[in-house]
Amino acid sequence: MTSFPHLFSPIQIGGMEVRNRILSTGHDTVMAHDGHVTDRLVAYHEARARGGAGLIVVQVSGVHETARYTSHILMATSDDAIPGCARLAEAVHRHGAKICGQLFHPGREIMETDDGTAPVAYAPSAVPNQRFRVMPVPLSLRMIGEIVSGYGDAAARLMAAGFDGCEIVASHGYLPAQFLNPVVNLRDDAYGGSRDNKLRFLREIAADIRTKTSPGFVVGLRITGEEHDSQSLEASEVLAFAKMLDGDGIIDYFNVVAGTSASLKGAVHIVPPMYFAAGYSAPFAAAMKAAVTKPVFVAGRINQPQIAEQVLVSGQADMCGMTRAMICDPEMPAKAAAGRLDDIRACIGCNQACIGHFHKGYPISCIQYPETGRELTLAIKEPTAHRKRIIVAGGGPAGMKAAAVLAGRGHDVELHEADSQLGGQARLAQLLPGRAEFGGIITNLAREMETAGVVVHRQSRVTRAMIDAHGADVVVIATGGKPHWPEVEGGDSSHVVDAWQVLRGQANVGTSVLIADWRSDWIGLGLAEKLAREGCRVKLCTEGIAAGEAIHGYVRDTMVAALHKLGVEIIPYAKLYGSDGNTVYMEHSASGEPIIFEEIDTLVLTQGHDRVADLEEALVDFAGEVHVIGDANTPRTAEEAVLEGLKVGRAI
Ligand SMILES: Cc1cc2nc3c(=O)[nH]c(=O)nc-3n(C[C@H](O)[C@H](O)[C@H](O)COP(=O)(O)O)c2cc1C
Ligand code: SF4
Repeated sequence: MTSFPHLFSPIQIGGMEVRNRILSTGHDTVMAHDGHVTDRLVAYHEARARGGAGLIVVQVSGVHETARYTSHILMATSDDAIPGCARLAEAVHRHGAKICGQLFHPGREIMETDDGTAPVAYAPSAVPNQRFRVMPVPLSLRMIGEIVSGYGDAAARLMAAGFDGCEIVASHGYLPAQFLNPVVNLRDDAYGGSRDNKLRFLREIAADIRTKTSPGFVVGLRITGEEHDSQSLEASEVLAFAKMLDGDGIIDYFNVVAGTSASLKGAVHIVPPMYFAAGYSAPFAAAMKAAVTKPVFVAGRINQPQIAEQVLVSGQADMCGMTRAMICDPEMPAKAAAGRLDDIRACIGCNQACIGHFHKGYPISCIQYPETGRELTLAIKEPTAHRKRIIVAGGGPAGMKAAAVLAGRGHDVELHEADSQLGGQARLAQLLPGRAEFGGIITNLAREMETAGVVVHRQSRVTRAMIDAHGADVVVIATGGKPHWPEVEGGDSSHVVDAWQVLRGQANVGTSVLIADWRSDWIGLGLAEKLAREGCRVKLCTEGIAAGEAIHGYVRDTMVAALHKLGVEIIPYAKLYGSDGNTVYMEHSASGEPIIFEEIDTLVLTQGHDRVADLEEALVDFAGEVHVIGDANTPRTAEEAVLEGLKVGRAI
C-alpha cells in the first residue's frame, strides 16, 4: 500500500487513461536539432517514463514558420516531424507512460533567431514586449487563418506519430494569451473587443484540431492563472475564458501555471526559483477547478510527492506537474511508489542547469544530477572490473559525487572531510537569505554516498602519511577553495572582511557597508540582502554590467527585486581598486575612471575563490593515480564540481 494513494491513482482524461497523477510538463530541452527530435531527446524522456511518470508532455512544437522563438525549437510544420515524434512516442509508451505534445506560437515573445538577427514577430497588435524588446507586426486575417490551420495540421502529425494528445500553449503570454489580453490585443475586427471576439482565435484553433484528429485524441489547454505583471490578463478574465471553452466541450484538460514571458517581473514565475514556496501556484488551479468541469493540472515548485499528494487531497488539482522534480530525479515516481522517500533527490529550485542552460542555448541538465540530459553518455556507469582502494579528500559536492559514483561502480572508497560536517561551500551558500534549500544538495549527495557504501570520516584531514598507510591506489583531491583576497591597497585593513567571515558571523560589520562583488553572482546579491535586512546601509558594487549577471535571470530578478525593496544601492561596472580609512576606491570597468565612496564602515569582499590543493604537491611522487576536481581544480560553482565528480567517478 503506497503512502500516496491519490498520487498513484489512475485518471481518465478524454480518451487517455494515465496510470498516476505525475506529469512532466512541456519544457524545452535544447535537445532538438534542425527542428527535429534527436536520440538524445528520446533517451531523456524515456528515462522519465521508465522512472514512473504518468504523463509526459513534450516541449513546444512550432505550428507555423513565424513560431520559431529560439534557434533550437522543435517544429511540427511538415510531415518530416513524424518519424522523430514516433520514436519518442514508442519509447515513452514502452514504459507505460502517456505522451502529449505542446502546440505553440509565441506571438511577440521571440527570444532569438537562428542567425542572430532581430526577429520579425507577429502579434494581435503592435504592442511592444518588455522582456525581449520586440515590436511585433499586427497579424493579418490571412495569417491568422494560416496559423489556426497550422495548429490542426501539427496536431494531426502528432497523432500520426502515435501521441495520445496535444496541448495548446495559451499560457505565459504566448500568442493565444495575447489575443485574450486587452492590453495587448487592440484589434477592432472579429478578433478583438468583446470576450467572444478575443476568444475566437483559441476557439478556431481547438475546432481545427478537433476536425483534423480522431475523437479519442486528447486536446488540453495550458493557461496562466495569474500572470503577476502590470500589463496582466486579469485572473478573473482567465477564469471567464476557461469557463467559455469548457462550455464548448472541446478541451479535455486545463493545465494551470503562473507567470508571463512578457516582463521580467512576470517571467520569474514561469520556472519559479527557490524563493517561492513549494506548490505556491496550487490556489490558481483550485480557482480553475471551481470554474470548469474537466480535469485540472497544476505546476510550480511541486518538488516532492508529499506536496503533490497534499495538492490532490485538498482537491486543488487532479494532476501535478513535477517537472524539475524529475529533471533532478527521473526515478522520483518509482521511489515514491516504493516508499523510498529518503532516496528521492529533491529539486532545490536553483534554476542553474535546467532553465539556466536553456536560456544560454545549451541542453538542459541538473546541478545535482548531471546525468540528466546526458542519458546516452555520462549516465551510463559500468561496474568496475578492477576494484581499487580510493581515498577522496574533501566532502563538498565534487568529492561526494565522485565517492558515490566510484563506490556505486564497486570500488572501495573512503571519503575524508576536514570539517565536522559535509557540504563544503554549499553549507555557506545555504545561509544566504531565501537560499536555505540549497543545503538540500548536501543531504542528497550524502544519501547517494550512503546508498553506494562510501565510508565517510569527518574531522579528518588527508595527509601523505595517511594515504601511504592506507595503501590507496587512487587519490581524488576535492579540497575546494577559499576566499580570494585581491592585492589592493588597504586590503589588509581591519575594516575589510570577506563573504565567508560575514556568513559565519565572524565579522564585525558596521552600519555603512560596501560589497565589492567580482563575479556578479548570488553571493554579492545574497550578502547585500542579508546585511540590509540586518539594518545596514548597503552599496553593492559589481564589476560586471549588472548585479547577478552571471546567474539565471529568474533568480537574479527575484533577488534584485528584493534588494530594490530594501533600498540597496547597486553600482555596476565598479572594480575594486583599494581602500583607505573609511574611503573605498573603485575603478569604472569600462572607462577606467575612479569612483570614490566615502564614509564606508566595512568593505566586504566577494572576489571569488582560490583553489586549495596543497595535497597535490605532497603527492608529486605518489605512484598511484591522482585526480583533482571541483574548486580544488579551479574555483567555479557546484554544478561543475558535481559534474567533475561524476566524470572522475566513471573514469577510474
Ligand atoms: C528547462 C525548462 C524549459 C521550459 N520550457 C517550457 C516550454 O517549452 N513550455 C512550457 O509550457 N513550459 C516550459 N517550462 C515550464 C515548465 O513546464 C513548468 O511549468 C515549470 O518548470 C514549473 O514546474 P516545476 O516547478 O515542476 O519545474 C520550462 C521549464 C524548464 C525548467
Ligand atoms: S538544476 Fe536546480 S532547479 Fe534545475 S532541476 Fe536541478 S536542482 Fe532543480
